[in-house]
Amino acid sequence: MNPISWILKKFFGSKNARMIKALKPVITRINQLEVEFRSLSQDALRAKVAKWKEELKPLEWGAQQEYLDRILPEAFAAVKNAAWRLTEAKAQFTVCEQPMTWAMVHFDTQLIGGYCLHKGMIAEMATGEGKTLVATLPLFLNGLTGRGSHLVTTNDYLARRDAEWMGQLYQYLGLTVGIIQHDQSPDERREQYRADICYGMNSEFGFDYLRDNGMATSKEQQVQRGHWYAIVDEVDSILIDEARVPLIISGPVTVSTHQFDKYKPLVEQIVKKQAMLCNRLSNDATKLFDEAATESAAGIAAKTKGSELTKMEEASRMMVKVKWGQPLNKAYLRAMEDPERRKAIEKMELSFYADVRKEEMWKLKEELFFNIDQRAHEADLTEQGREFMNPGDPNAFMLPDLPTQFAELDGNSALTEQQKIAAKSKAQDEMNMQSERIHNISQLLRAYCLYEKDVHYIVDEGKVVIVDENTGRTMPGRRWSDGLHQAVEAKEGVQIDKETQTLATITVQNYFRLYKKLGGMTGTAETEANEFHDIYKLDVSVIPTNRPCVRKDGNDLIFKTRREKYNSVVQEIGEAHAKGQPVLVGTASVEASELVSRMLQRAKIPHTVLNARHNQQEAEIIARAGQLGAVTISTNMAGRGTDIKLAPGVAEVGGLYVLATERHESRRIDRQLRGRGARQGDPGYSRFYVSFEDDLMRNFGAAERMTKLMERFGMKEGEALEHSWLNRSVETAQKRVEQRNYLIRKRTLEFDDVMNKQREVIYGWRNEAINTDNPRALLYDVIDDRIPEKVEEFFPQGDMPQTEELLHWTNITFPTSVTKESIEGKTQEEISALLADRVKKAYELKSQHEIPEQIKGLERYITLGAIDRLWQEHLYNMDSLREGVYLRAHGQKDPLIEYKQEAFKMFGVLMDNIKDEVLNNLFRSTSNIMAFESFLSNLPQFLSAPDESSIAGGAAEQQPDADPEVQMNLPARREAPKVGRNEPCPCGSGRKFKDCCAKNG
Ligand SMILES: Nc1ncnc2c1ncn2[C@@H]1O[C@H](COP(=O)(O)OP(=O)(O)OP(=O)(O)O)[C@@H](O)[C@H]1O
Ligand SMILES: [Mg+2]
Repeated sequence: MNPISWILKKFFGSKNARMIKALKPVITRINQLEVEFRSLSQDALRAKVAKWKEELKPLEWGAQQEYLDRILPEAFAAVKNAAWRLTEAKAQFTVCEQPMTWAMVHFDTQLIGGYCLHKGMIAEMATGEGKTLVATLPLFLNGLTGRGSHLVTTNDYLARRDAEWMGQLYQYLGLTVGIIQHDQSPDERREQYRADICYGMNSEFGFDYLRDNGMATSKEQQVQRGHWYAIVDEVDSILIDEARVPLIISGPVTVSTHQFDKYKPLVEQIVKKQAMLCNRLSNDATKLFDEAATESAAGIAAKTKGSELTKMEEASRMMVKVKWGQPLNKAYLRAMEDPERRKAIEKMELSFYADVRKEEMWKLKEELFFNIDQRAHEADLTEQGREFMNPGDPNAFMLPDLPTQFAELDGNSALTEQQKIAAKSKAQDEMNMQSERIHNISQLLRAYCLYEKDVHYIVDEGKVVIVDENTGRTMPGRRWSDGLHQAVEAKEGVQIDKETQTLATITVQNYFRLYKKLGGMTGTAETEANEFHDIYKLDVSVIPTNRPCVRKDGNDLIFKTRREKYNSVVQEIGEAHAKGQPVLVGTASVEASELVSRMLQRAKIPHTVLNARHNQQEAEIIARAGQLGAVTISTNMAGRGTDIKLAPGVAEVGGLYVLATERHESRRIDRQLRGRGARQGDPGYSRFYVSFEDDLMRNFGAAERMTKLMERFGMKEGEALEHSWLNRSVETAQKRVEQRNYLIRKRTLEFDDVMNKQREVIYGWRNEAINTDNPRALLYDVIDDRIPEKVEEFFPQGDMPQTEELLHWTNITFPTSVTKESIEGKTQEEISALLADRVKKAYELKSQHEIPEQIKGLERYITLGAIDRLWQEHLYNMDSLREGVYLRAHGQKDPLIEYKQEAFKMFGVLMDNIKDEVLNNLFRSTSNIMAFESFLSNLPQFLSAPDESSIAGGAAEQQPDADPEVQMNLPARREAPKVGRNEPCPCGSGRKFKDCCAKNG
C-alpha cells in the first residue's frame, strides 16, 4: 500500500484527512517534477534557484508570498532532488566532528509536513519521523527571498547539528546557511544572520533581539535583519514549557532596596522553629493514630480527653496542620501511605474548606509561624511569625490599611489640611517600605521551603543556576524574577546579585510573535492545540507516520509508596538488561535520577546518568542509548530531538525499552518520553511506574478514590495496581494540572502583553533614531509635539494664563529669549508655532557650529540617551508596580486591571519625560565644545535674560554620566517627578503646585 492511501485509510473523515487529501495532487506533482529534475545538471538546478531569487528580490512581502506559493511544487522538488543526488553520490561530510554519509530522500509524509510549515501551521509529526529533514523544504523555499529564514532549536548542539547536516542540501542548491552559537561575537553573529537560512537556539535569538533593540546605538552594532519567517522546532517546549521564565538582560542597579541578607538569619530560625513544631506535632499525631488503631482493634472509638473529636480525628487535625506548615514532613508523608490515615487526613482538610469551618482553619493556621501552599507556591507569615520576626513590633510585617488610615485622617478635625497631606504622604512611604520588607521575607520563605537545591536549582561556581523542571537542563543566565533569585542566593550564601536590574526583557513567546510568519513542529502538540490556537494563532495539523508505529505501551503500574516503586523499577531494569534490551529510564528530577543511579550501582547494573550537570555530552549519551544492554538514566525530557538509533540485534530483543519512573504534570512530556523509542517503525516498549507519593498524585490525583481503591484491593508490600482505566484516571489528574498551568501562563502573558505594547512603541522609536537618515526630523517631531502641550499647560482652561512661567520655561530650556511682548495677544496655537519656530531656528544656528560628520550621530544620541535612561527606570517601576498590584489584590480588585490602568498612566508620563529630556538636551550636547561656546556667547540676550540669574551664576550641573567632551553645562534641570501645574504641590502645602513651589522657584 502506498503511504498516501495508508494515511487516508487511517485518518479518513477527519479535518486533517481532508486537508491531506486535498494535498494529494500537489504531492504527486512534486514527485513528478523531482524525477524530471534528475536529468538536469547541478548548474542547471542552481540556475533555477538563482532565477527565483532574482525575481523575488524586488517584491514586497505579500507579493513574495504569492510567488512562493506558486513555485512551491518546483522548489520542494528541487530540495528533494538534491537529497536524492546526495544519496546517489553517497555524499560524505562531518556533523559535529562525526563523519556522516547522506542517505535520505523526503518521504511523502515529509512533503506534507513541509507544506504545513510553509503555511504557518504546527506540524505534529511523531518523534523520529525526520522533522529535521521536513524543515529543509519550507526553509529553502522561504530562504529564496533573501530576507533570512530562521530555524529555532532548543539547544546550541541541535542548532549546530542540524545546520551542518541540512546545510548539505542548501549549499548544493546555492543557498547560504548560518549557525548562531552561544560564544560568538557580535560580528560573527551578524555574519550568520546574513545567510539565507539561519539555525540557532531560542534564547540566542531572543537575546540578540534585546541587544539590538535595547542596547545597540547604531545600525552597525545590530546583528539581526528583521523577523520574517521562523520555524520553531520542539515548538511545545519553547512556547509552552519555557513560558514562565522571561529572558532578561540586566545591568547595574540604580536603586537597590532588598534586605535579603538582613532577614536571612531570622528566616532561617523561623524555618527551623517551624520544623521543630511540625516534628513534634507529627510525632504526637502518629502516636494518637497508633492508639486509635489499637483501640479500634479492641472495638472502642475513643475520644481524646476533653475533646469532641475522636483520636483519629484529632490526629488528622494535627497532620493537616503539619501539611500547611511543612508539606514535606517525613511523618506526615508516612501517614499518607496508610490508606485509612490518608483518608482521615484528607477528609479533615476538606472539611476545613467548608464555609462554616473557615474560621477554625484560620485559627489553626495562626498556630503556625507561617503557612505554605505547595500548590500555589506561596508562603505567608502568621501573627505569631510576625511577632517572632520582630518581637517589639509585629506590625512591621503587616501591610498598613491605607484607605482606612486615609479616611481616619480625613475625618480628624484636629489636623489642618496641610498636616493631613503630610501625614498621608508619610503613610504612603511607610506602606512602600513595609511591602518591600514583606516581599523579601516571603521570597526567603519560599526559597527555604519550596525550592530545593539540586532539584529546582544547582549551585555552580558560586552562582545559583535554575534547572528546567522538565528537561533537567540548567538554564545559565536566566533568573527567577521578583527577587526570588536573590532570596535563593541569600539562602545558599553565595554572592547576591544585588547590583543588577532589568535593562531589557522579553518572554520567548513575545519574541516569536514578532515574526510575520511562524511555523512549528513537534511530536506532541495535539494536547495543547487550543493554547496554540488562542495565543499564537497557530493551527495544529497532525501528520501521520511514514510507517505505522509498532511500539507497545504498557499500562501504568501504580505502587503504594515510592520505595516499593523504585525497588520494582530496579528489578525490571535488571531483567531487561540481562536479555540485552537497552533501557532508557526517565525521571522527573535530577534527584530522582541520582537515586535510581545509586540503586543500580548497588544492584551492579552498569549505566550512564544524564542530568543537568552533564549538559555537554547530553546528545552523545542519548544517542548511545540504543546499544545492546545499555541502561541510560535521564530526566524526563532531556535529549529531546536527539536520535536514538538501534544497534544491530536490539530489534530482536524488543527494541528500546522506555521506562518512566514518574508521570509528569503534563501528558505531552510523557508522550515525548515514550517517543524516544520506536522511531521510524522500530520495535519498542514503554511503561510508567507511579506511586501514590508522587507529587502529581498527592496534589492533584483523585486521592480519595485512589485511597479507597488501595483499601479494596488490600495491597500487599511491593504489589502494584494495573488497569487501563487507572491510566485514565492518572490522565485526568494530568489534564487538571495542564488546565491550571495554562491559566497561569495565560495570565503571565496578559501581564506581559502590557509591557509588550510599550516595548514595541519604545523600540520602534529607538530603531527609527538608529536607522533614519534624518535624525533631526525626530527631534523636530518632539518639538512640535511637546511645545503645544507645554503651552496648554501654562494656559489652563478657565484659569489665569501663566505667561511669565511659560517664558521662564522656554528661556531656561532653549536659548531663545522670547519676550513677553512677542507673545502677547496671541492665541495658544500662534504661541506654540512661534516658540517651535524659534527653537528650530536656534537649533539650526547651533548646528552650523558642529562638526558636520558628527552631527547626525549627536542627534541620534540625543534621542537614544533620553529613551535609554528613562526606559530603564520605567522597567524598574513596572517591576515594582507588578509586585504592588498583587499586594493590593487582597482588596478584591483584579490585579490585572489595576496593573493595566496604572501601567498606562505610567507610560504616558514616561513618554512625556523622554520628550522633555530630549528638549533639555537639544542645546546641551555638542560635537565641538569651542564652537559651541562661541555660539552661546553670540547669544547675548540669552545670557542676559532678565530672570535667568541662575544661569549667569553658573548654577549649572554636570550630568553625572556625561562625556565632558560632548556635554555642555546649561541650567540645572528639574529632576523631581513631574507635577502638573494644577496638581497639589508635592511639598504638602495643599496649594496648587503653580501657586506654591513652582512660583517660588
Ligand atoms: N526520508 C528519510 N529517509 C531515511 N531516513 C530518514 C528520513 N527522514 C529522517 N530519517 C532518519 O530518521 C531519524 C530521525 O530524524 P529526526 O531526528 O529528524 O527526527 P525528529 O522527527 O526530529 O524526531 P524528534 O521528535 O525526536 O526530534 C534520523 O536518523 C534520520 O536520519
Ligand atoms: Mg527533531
